[in-house]
Order: sequence, then C-alpha cells, then structure tokens
Amino acid sequence: MKKSKRLNQIPPYLFVKIEEKKAEMEAKGVDIINFGIGDPDLPTPKHIFKKMHEVLESKEASQYPSSKGEFAFKKAISKWYQKRFKVELNPRDEICCLIGSKEGLAHLPLAFIDPGDIALIPDPSYPVYKISTTLAGGEPYLLPLTEKNNFLPELKKIPANVIKKAKLLYINYPNNPTGAAADKEFFKKCVDFCKKNNLLLVSDLAYSEMGYDGYIPSSVLEIEGAKDVTIEFHSLSKTYNMTGWRIGMAVGNSEAVQALAIIKSNIDSGAFKAIQLAAIEALSASQDCVKANNKIFEERRDVLVNGLNSLGWQLEKPQATFYLWVPVPKGETSASFTKKLLDKCGILVVPGSGYGKSGEGYVRFAITIDQKQIVEAILRLKKAAIKF
Ligand SMILES: Cc1ncc(COP(=O)(O)O)c(C=O)c1O
Repeated sequence: MKKSKRLNQIPPYLFVKIEEKKAEMEAKGVDIINFGIGDPDLPTPKHIFKKMHEVLESKEASQYPSSKGEFAFKKAISKWYQKRFKVELNPRDEICCLIGSKEGLAHLPLAFIDPGDIALIPDPSYPVYKISTTLAGGEPYLLPLTEKNNFLPELKKIPANVIKKAKLLYINYPNNPTGAAADKEFFKKCVDFCKKNNLLLVSDLAYSEMGYDGYIPSSVLEIEGAKDVTIEFHSLSKTYNMTGWRIGMAVGNSEAVQALAIIKSNIDSGAFKAIQLAAIEALSASQDCVKANNKIFEERRDVLVNGLNSLGWQLEKPQATFYLWVPVPKGETSASFTKKLLDKCGILVVPGSGYGKSGEGYVRFAITIDQKQIVEAILRLKKAAIKF
C-alpha cells in the first residue's frame, strides 16, 4: 500500500498516543489519575438533554441538515454573541455551524492556504492549527509563547519576508495549553497587524466562558473593525460539557465564513439537526449552569495550584481555562517528567513539547477530574518525593 507524502508529514494525533499509554497502564492495574485530555467530567446540563430527547425522534431531525447550519441555530448564535459580547452577527452570512470547532479549524486552511503560503501559528498551541496548515501544503511559521512574553506572540519579531508570504494569523485566548489570558489591547494589535498586512486573523475562542476570579474573557470581534479581517471559532464543547456532541461555530467576516462553508459543503453535510436544536437551548436558556461549572473548576484550580506550590512550585492561578501549565523540575524534560509522573505516581499529564518546541520544559494538567483525585495526586507526589 502506498500512502500519500502528505500523511507522512503529520505525526499521530497527540491524544491518540496518550490514550494508548493510559490504556496500557490501566491494563497493568495502575489506578490512573488522569490530568490528560481537557474533556469535562461534569455532565451536560439536564435542560439540554431534555431538548435533545424532545427533538430526537422528529422526522425532520433524521434528514440531511443544511451544511452551513440550521437558520434557527445561527439565529441563536447571533443572539448569544450580541448578549455576551455586544457583537452583531448576521446569521445569513456571518455564521457557519461546525461539527465541533476542531472540524472547522481543520478545514479552514483548505480555503486560504496554497502550497508555499505561510500561516503564523503560536507555539505551543492546539495541534490542529499546524497540522491542518501542513495538510493544505502550507508552511507553519511558529511564534514562541514564553513566560517572558506573557504567552503572547511578539508580532514585531516576525520577519518581513515571512509576513509577505503569510495568509493567516492564529490566536487562542484564553489559551490552551498555557491557560494564559489576553486583553483587548493585544487583540487590537492583532487586528491592526492583520489589516496592515492583509492577513486573516483566526481567533479560537473555545474557552471564552471559563473565566475565574471575576475575569470575563473578550471576543476579538469586540474590537472596532475586527470583522473586516477576523474569523472566530467557538464551540459548545467546554462551555456546556458537550465535547462528545460535536457542535461549534465559525463567525465573523462573511467572505471568510463563506469560504470555509464552500469547503465544508463539499466534504460534510452539517451537524445532526437534533444536536443543533439542543444547542439552541444551550445558548438561549439561563447560563447559570456555566457559572456552576466555573465555580467547580475554580475550586479545583485552587487545590492543584496550592498543592503544587506546597511542593516548591511558584505557580500563579490561571484566570481562565481548565489548564495548568507547569514547569518541570531542574534536570527533567517534558517527556521525562511526564514519564516519571506516570511510572512513579500513576499521574497522567500531557508533555508540553507535544504542543510545540516552546512547550518543552512544561507539562499540562487538565483539571477535569474531581477534587478528591487532585488531593490524592498531591499526596502521591509527596510520597514519591517529587518536588520543584
Ligand atoms: C484551543 C482549542 N480549540 C478548539 C478545540 C476543539 O474543540 P471542539 O472541536 O470540541 O469544539 C479544543 C479542544 O480541546 C481546544 O483546546
């Protein structure tokens, strides 16, 4: 069998390897504390399930959906963006429904990147930006995110010859994997940079609803004129504990949204209608369930940060996301420390290097497990004399 050269360019997906390792350890009888993939352990709120049950058996639900999304769902997205961010979106051409935001992010470069074109991609970052750029024949140009630059890309450092070949600039705040937040001043800089250099700004806002200590994340589209150059990706996955449902949206610049929709309409036939109808309920009903989630994640964050700090780390509490970006002790690499945590303590984390070269020296903890397990993890670290 002769596979494509394209396939050889991409590594196995990060979490496939991690899931395999987890299964291998569990088969040996190890009780794993899983800080791995960021998949909320909390249930999808009951009212969303109720709506799903109501619509599931309708004849309409079983038929092909519109690939861009049901108009009623797009209207609900438009209303939600207006209420949440004071951003106006026309449901006709500024919104496209996605089968989870990963799907839209993975397809976007097919609409914008020709072989040899560059996409400006943060490093570390959600692996899909880089992989989908490569699959489209483009070249990722990596923008290091470090503690020194507050995990914000330094646009001034991008060489002119790179900018000339670039088509896309990706940003993701609140950020996976670093947990960093960005303010509107940074968003404005990105919008101005993209306007000046004729780039499309790709904002991944998957974690906008997970803010703590009173912090409320913003959308890039809140910046005046941002819609001229921005496509924003959003998802119900993390906000409503709906990762398995596969439902999200791309919104913003109509030309960009429609370009993505052309690719999608030729590849998939849209998200299951019943899920879109249940998603309307998620966006339109009271958002108290989101507040309740955040309270739980905030408490877990505090337990983990305080626990690790009692072992010598000096971590600040992230204002958003359910990730903790933790430097490894001296003498360790991301991979060696990940292995040590798993072998000695049965603690599964993700090596920062899996998110890019600048992620070396870190591991990522996802606090998608209950507090008791976090306490147990700290006890196991203490017992194994693992400290910073
Ligand atoms: C930064 C970021 N963007 C997008 C996604 C994809 O989410 P989904 O495809 O479930 O909408 C994830 C999932 O972990 C993520 O971390």
